[in-house]
Amino acid sequence: MRIQTSDLSKTYEKKYIALENLTLDLSLNGIFSIIGRNGAGKTTFVRIMSTELMPTSGSGFINEMDVVSQAIEVRQQIAVVPQEARPLPWLTPLQTVSSYLMWRGYSYREANEKGKEALRELGLEGKESVKSRKLSGGQKRKLMVATVISSEAPIVFLDEPTTGLDYLSRKELWQLLSKMKKDRLIILTTHYLEEAEILGDQIMILDSGKLVDIGKIDDLRSKVKLPYVLKVYSDNFKIEDNELQVHPVSEKETFVYGSATKIYGLVPYLVTNKMKFTVEEASLSNIFEQYLGGEEGENEKEDW
Ligand SMILES: Nc1ncnc2c1ncn2[C@@H]1O[C@H](COP(=O)(O)OP(=O)(O)OP(=O)(O)O)[C@@H](O)[C@H]1O
Ligand SMILES: [Mg+2]
Repeated sequence: MRIQTSDLSKTYEKKYIALENLTLDLSLNGIFSIIGRNGAGKTTFVRIMSTELMPTSGSGFINEMDVVSQAIEVRQQIAVVPQEARPLPWLTPLQTVSSYLMWRGYSYREANEKGKEALRELGLEGKESVKSRKLSGGQKRKLMVATVISSEAPIVFLDEPTTGLDYLSRKELWQLLSKMKKDRLIILTTHYLEEAEILGDQIMILDSGKLVDIGKIDDLRSKVKLPYVLKVYSDNFKIEDNELQVHPVSEKETFVYGSATKIYGLVPYLVTNKMKFTVEEASLSNIFEQYLGGEEGENEKEDW
């Protein structure tokens, strides 16, 4: 599967720049995680690439098809769960999934079978026949995911599918996405950086509508100055060094970010002083902070 953009830009109401000259070319069967602060442009990107919204300038392609001039063809290959999507309250979950599938061309029987299977996979089998308005917020999100999973579309857009899901449900959804990613491209936006890291075969960081970077977690980590984390569990640990970033977490716990050489250089001292410690590679949240930390977020817009 392939997703490309060339100088893709979107300005709302001629003044709010949501995407600015975004250029990327990704051939991937797997999960493409998109992360960024509120207002970074993630949803705008998803809406344009899923043919819902026109770009202001530039172009986007899904499997070499133009998302504007070939929108009808593109729609046959994609399935989307928008950020704010909720099921129709008067339909049951099974009716929701099966009507979506029939609308995509499946027969009534196939739609019912596939619908039941998808609801089972999302742990909604007991709720097949209650009206969707009686589902909890998380169950409604799961139902929206069930509809796209059942569609077998090769390219799937999920805009914050796990927001509002409990911890265990989130992990179940991770497993499901990992299972279904074979032969598919899943474009996933999320604010859970742990999720973006675990699932993302490629990760894109957006900020104020611009591409900050794109790559595998190891590529991103190799570009930051402090790719290692030392976690020290001791109340006697004190250190000052300009090349290290020291974050006291509590009286007994300190995190130190630094280069491999610097961090491993501290190990003899820790061993001699019998301090408990671990050394880890920086997580995506550490990396994200290093990419974006210190900068101001987007300026508040004055709409009134
Ligand atoms: N319909 C709209 N009209 C005007 N401005 C908009 C509209 N939709 C989005 N924007 C602006 O475009 C920018 C990008 O919004 P977008 O929804 O793409 O961000 P996001 O990264 O999805 O944020 P979040 O993490 O909060 O969902 C924001 O500054 C937002 O205020
Ligand atoms: Mg969004």
